Amino acid sequence: MRRKLAAGNWKMNGTPEMLAELSTLTGGENGPQILICPPAPLLTRAADVTLGSPVEIGGQDCHANPKGAHTGDIAASMLKDAGASAVIVGHSERRTDHAETDAQVRAKAEAAYAAGLTAIICIGESEEERLGPDCLDIIAAQLDGSTPDTATADNTVIAYEPIWAIGTGRVPTMEQIIETHDMIRTKLTARFGDAGANMRVLYGGSVKPTNAAEIFEAENVDGALVGGASLKAADFQPIIDALAAS
Ligand code: 13P
Repeated sequence: MRRKLAAGNWKMNGTPEMLAELSTLTGGENGPQILICPPAPLLTRAADVTLGSPVEIGGQDCHANPKGAHTGDIAASMLKDAGASAVIVGHSERRTDHAETDAQVRAKAEAAYAAGLTAIICIGESEEERLGPDCLDIIAAQLDGSTPDTATADNTVIAYEPIWAIGTGRVPTMEQIIETHDMIRTKLTARFGDAGANMRVLYGGSVKPTNAAEIFEAENVDGALVGGASLKAADFQPIIDALAAS
Protein backbone atom coordinates (compact mmCIF):
# COMPACT_ATOMS: atom_id res chain seq x y z
CA MET A 1 0.00 0.00 0.00
CA ARG A 2 1.56 3.32 -1.07
CA ARG A 3 1.01 6.14 1.43
CA LYS A 4 -0.31 9.26 -0.30
CA LEU A 5 1.89 12.34 -0.24
CA ALA A 6 0.91 16.00 -0.51
CA ALA A 7 4.11 17.95 -1.10
CA GLY A 8 4.38 21.72 -1.37
CA ASN A 9 7.25 23.46 -3.16
CA TRP A 10 7.44 27.09 -2.13
CA LYS A 11 10.21 27.79 -4.68
CA MET A 12 11.75 31.26 -4.13
CA ASN A 13 8.72 32.46 -2.19
CA GLY A 14 8.09 32.77 1.49
CA THR A 15 8.62 35.05 4.45
CA PRO A 16 8.93 34.18 8.14
CA GLU A 17 5.35 35.45 8.55
CA MET A 18 4.12 32.87 6.04
CA LEU A 19 5.30 30.02 8.25
CA ALA A 20 2.12 30.47 10.27
CA GLU A 21 0.33 28.88 7.28
CA LEU A 22 2.05 25.60 8.15
CA SER A 23 0.73 25.33 11.67
CA THR A 24 -2.89 25.00 10.56
CA LEU A 25 -2.41 22.15 8.06
CA THR A 26 -3.89 18.83 9.11
CA GLY A 27 -3.79 15.39 7.54
CA GLY A 28 -6.43 13.69 9.58
CA GLU A 29 -5.95 10.32 11.21
CA ASN A 30 -4.11 7.92 8.91
CA GLY A 31 -4.20 10.71 6.35
CA PRO A 32 -1.67 11.55 3.66
CA GLN A 33 1.91 12.46 4.45
CA ILE A 34 2.30 16.25 4.25
CA LEU A 35 5.58 17.87 3.24
CA ILE A 36 6.45 21.52 2.67
CA CYS A 37 9.69 22.59 1.02
CA PRO A 38 10.37 26.23 1.89
CA PRO A 39 13.45 28.20 0.80
CA ALA A 40 16.54 27.00 2.70
CA PRO A 41 16.87 30.03 5.03
CA LEU A 42 13.40 29.27 6.44
CA LEU A 43 14.03 25.57 7.09
CA THR A 44 14.98 25.72 10.75
CA ARG A 45 12.12 28.07 11.57
CA ALA A 46 9.74 25.88 9.59
CA ALA A 47 11.00 22.88 11.58
CA ASP A 48 10.23 24.73 14.82
CA VAL A 49 6.74 25.73 13.69
CA THR A 50 5.85 22.19 12.59
CA LEU A 51 7.29 20.36 15.60
CA GLY A 52 4.66 17.93 16.83
CA SER A 53 2.41 18.56 13.81
CA PRO A 54 1.82 16.19 10.87
CA VAL A 55 3.75 18.53 8.55
CA GLU A 56 7.27 17.48 7.53
CA ILE A 57 9.70 19.82 5.85
CA GLY A 58 12.10 19.37 2.95
CA GLY A 59 14.72 21.14 0.85
CA GLN A 60 14.37 22.24 -2.78
CA ASP A 61 17.80 21.12 -3.97
CA CYS A 62 21.11 19.79 -2.64
CA HIS A 63 24.67 19.50 -3.90
CA ALA A 64 25.97 16.11 -5.01
CA ASN A 65 29.02 16.38 -2.74
CA PRO A 66 28.91 16.07 1.05
CA LYS A 67 30.99 19.25 1.63
CA GLY A 68 33.62 21.46 0.08
CA ALA A 69 34.31 24.61 -1.91
CA HIS A 70 30.91 25.14 -3.54
CA THR A 71 29.84 28.68 -2.71
CA GLY A 72 26.11 29.09 -2.43
CA ASP A 73 25.34 25.37 -2.49
CA ILE A 74 23.86 23.26 0.29
CA ALA A 75 24.84 19.72 1.27
CA ALA A 76 22.10 17.16 1.87
CA SER A 77 23.37 16.60 5.41
CA MET A 78 22.87 20.32 6.13
CA LEU A 79 19.21 20.03 5.12
CA LYS A 80 18.91 17.01 7.39
CA ASP A 81 20.49 18.95 10.27
CA ALA A 82 18.01 21.77 9.68
CA GLY A 83 15.14 19.31 10.19
CA ALA A 84 14.35 18.19 6.63
CA SER A 85 13.20 14.65 5.89
CA ALA A 86 13.28 15.00 2.09
CA VAL A 87 14.73 17.04 -0.74
CA ILE A 88 13.48 17.81 -4.24
CA VAL A 89 16.09 17.11 -6.92
CA GLY A 90 16.00 17.79 -10.65
CA HIS A 91 13.10 20.21 -10.65
CA SER A 92 12.66 21.56 -14.19
CA GLU A 93 13.48 25.07 -12.94
CA ARG A 94 16.86 23.75 -11.70
CA ARG A 95 17.37 21.87 -14.96
CA THR A 96 16.63 25.08 -16.90
CA ASP A 97 18.19 27.76 -14.67
CA HIS A 98 21.30 25.73 -13.79
CA ALA A 99 21.57 23.37 -16.77
CA GLU A 100 21.33 20.30 -14.53
CA THR A 101 21.62 16.99 -16.37
CA ASP A 102 20.07 13.62 -15.56
CA ALA A 103 23.48 12.40 -14.35
CA GLN A 104 23.78 15.35 -11.95
CA VAL A 105 20.26 14.80 -10.68
CA ARG A 106 21.06 11.14 -10.07
CA ALA A 107 24.20 12.14 -8.12
CA LYS A 108 22.13 14.56 -6.03
CA ALA A 109 19.62 11.81 -5.26
CA GLU A 110 22.51 9.57 -4.13
CA ALA A 111 23.75 12.40 -1.89
CA ALA A 112 20.25 12.67 -0.42
CA TYR A 113 20.22 8.92 0.37
CA ALA A 114 23.65 9.16 2.01
CA ALA A 115 22.31 11.92 4.29
CA GLY A 116 19.19 9.92 5.18
CA LEU A 117 16.81 12.05 3.13
CA THR A 118 14.09 10.95 0.74
CA ALA A 119 14.82 12.21 -2.78
CA ILE A 120 11.86 13.59 -4.73
CA ILE A 121 13.15 13.17 -8.28
CA CYS A 122 11.42 15.41 -10.84
CA ILE A 123 10.96 14.55 -14.49
CA GLY A 124 8.72 15.95 -17.20
CA GLU A 125 8.52 17.05 -20.81
CA SER A 126 8.46 20.43 -22.53
CA GLU A 127 5.44 21.46 -24.59
CA GLU A 128 7.30 20.73 -27.81
CA GLU A 129 8.13 17.24 -26.57
CA ARG A 130 4.50 16.66 -25.53
CA LEU A 131 3.38 17.47 -29.06
CA GLY A 132 6.00 15.22 -30.67
CA PRO A 133 5.84 11.45 -31.25
CA ASP A 134 8.45 10.46 -28.64
CA CYS A 135 7.05 12.10 -25.52
CA LEU A 136 6.78 8.96 -23.38
CA ASP A 137 10.22 7.75 -24.49
CA ILE A 138 11.74 11.09 -23.48
CA ILE A 139 10.14 10.93 -20.03
CA ALA A 140 11.23 7.29 -19.65
CA ALA A 141 14.82 8.21 -20.50
CA GLN A 142 14.76 11.01 -17.91
CA LEU A 143 13.41 8.60 -15.32
CA ASP A 144 16.12 6.04 -16.10
CA GLY A 145 18.92 8.57 -16.14
CA SER A 146 17.88 10.51 -13.02
CA THR A 147 17.06 7.59 -10.72
CA PRO A 148 19.95 5.84 -8.92
CA ASP A 149 20.24 2.04 -8.93
CA THR A 150 19.96 2.17 -5.12
CA ALA A 151 16.49 3.74 -5.19
CA THR A 152 13.92 2.11 -2.90
CA ALA A 153 10.28 2.79 -2.08
CA ASP A 154 11.45 4.45 1.15
CA ASN A 155 14.20 6.70 -0.16
CA THR A 156 12.64 7.81 -3.46
CA VAL A 157 9.54 9.57 -4.72
CA ILE A 158 9.11 10.35 -8.42
CA ALA A 159 7.37 13.61 -9.39
CA TYR A 160 6.04 13.85 -12.94
CA GLU A 161 5.80 17.54 -13.76
CA PRO A 162 5.11 18.53 -17.38
CA ILE A 163 7.07 21.78 -17.77
CA TRP A 164 4.27 23.44 -19.74
CA ALA A 165 1.81 22.80 -16.90
CA ILE A 166 3.95 24.46 -14.20
CA GLY A 167 2.54 27.80 -13.10
CA THR A 168 0.43 28.12 -16.24
CA GLY A 169 -2.99 26.97 -15.07
CA ARG A 170 -2.88 24.33 -17.82
CA VAL A 171 -2.99 20.63 -16.97
CA PRO A 172 -2.69 17.56 -19.18
CA THR A 173 -5.87 15.64 -19.96
CA MET A 174 -6.67 12.83 -17.54
CA GLU A 175 -5.88 10.43 -20.38
CA GLN A 176 -2.37 11.91 -20.64
CA ILE A 177 -1.83 11.84 -16.87
CA ILE A 178 -2.99 8.22 -16.62
CA GLU A 179 -0.91 7.10 -19.61
CA THR A 180 2.23 8.80 -18.31
CA HIS A 181 1.89 7.60 -14.72
CA ASP A 182 1.13 4.05 -15.89
CA MET A 183 4.26 4.13 -18.04
CA ILE A 184 6.34 5.36 -15.09
CA ARG A 185 4.93 2.59 -12.85
CA THR A 186 5.68 -0.05 -15.50
CA LYS A 187 9.26 1.21 -15.87
CA LEU A 188 9.85 1.38 -12.11
CA THR A 189 8.49 -2.12 -11.57
CA ALA A 190 10.57 -3.54 -14.41
CA ARG A 191 13.74 -2.00 -12.96
CA PHE A 192 13.18 -2.25 -9.20
CA GLY A 193 10.60 -5.03 -8.77
CA ASP A 194 8.50 -4.67 -5.59
CA ALA A 195 10.34 -1.47 -4.67
CA GLY A 196 9.25 0.01 -7.99
CA ALA A 197 5.67 -1.13 -7.46
CA ASN A 198 5.69 0.58 -4.05
CA MET A 199 7.49 3.80 -5.03
CA ARG A 200 5.27 6.84 -4.93
CA VAL A 201 4.67 8.81 -8.12
CA LEU A 202 3.35 12.35 -7.73
CA TYR A 203 1.76 14.58 -10.34
CA GLY A 204 2.81 18.26 -10.38
CA GLY A 205 1.81 21.24 -12.50
CA SER A 206 -1.06 23.64 -11.74
CA VAL A 207 -2.67 21.38 -9.13
CA LYS A 208 -5.46 23.43 -7.50
CA PRO A 209 -8.32 22.75 -5.09
CA THR A 210 -10.59 22.70 -8.16
CA ASN A 211 -8.80 19.93 -10.11
CA ALA A 212 -7.09 17.88 -7.38
CA ALA A 213 -9.86 15.34 -6.78
CA GLU A 214 -10.06 14.36 -10.45
CA ILE A 215 -6.27 14.01 -10.77
CA PHE A 216 -6.12 11.85 -7.61
CA GLU A 217 -8.60 9.39 -9.12
CA ALA A 218 -5.82 7.97 -11.32
CA GLU A 219 -4.54 4.68 -9.90
CA ASN A 220 -0.86 5.51 -10.29
CA VAL A 221 -1.09 9.08 -8.99
CA ASP A 222 -0.01 8.83 -5.35
CA GLY A 223 -0.24 12.52 -4.54
CA ALA A 224 0.92 15.89 -5.80
CA LEU A 225 3.88 18.24 -5.85
CA VAL A 226 2.22 21.63 -5.59
CA GLY A 227 3.75 25.04 -6.22
CA GLY A 228 1.55 28.13 -6.09
CA ALA A 229 -1.35 26.47 -4.31
CA SER A 230 0.92 25.32 -1.45
CA LEU A 231 1.69 28.88 -0.33
CA LYS A 232 -1.59 29.37 1.50
CA ALA A 233 -3.22 26.88 3.84
CA ALA A 234 -6.62 27.90 2.42
CA ASP A 235 -5.51 26.47 -0.96
CA PHE A 236 -3.31 23.58 0.19
CA GLN A 237 -5.66 22.12 2.81
CA PRO A 238 -8.43 21.30 0.29
CA ILE A 239 -5.80 19.55 -1.85
CA ILE A 240 -4.70 17.46 1.17
CA ASP A 241 -8.36 16.70 1.90
CA ALA A 242 -8.99 15.63 -1.70
CA LEU A 243 -6.00 13.30 -1.46
CA ALA A 244 -7.23 11.87 1.84
CA ALA A 245 -10.61 11.18 0.24
CA SER A 246 -9.16 9.52 -2.88
P1 13P B 1 2.56 25.04 -9.76
O1 13P B 1 1.70 24.18 -8.84
O2 13P B 1 2.65 26.46 -9.30
O3 13P B 1 2.16 24.86 -11.19
O4 13P B 1 4.06 24.47 -9.64
C1 13P B 1 4.28 23.10 -9.75
C2 13P B 1 5.69 22.82 -9.40
O5 13P B 1 6.61 23.17 -10.11
C3 13P B 1 5.93 22.12 -8.12
O6 13P B 1 7.25 21.71 -8.02
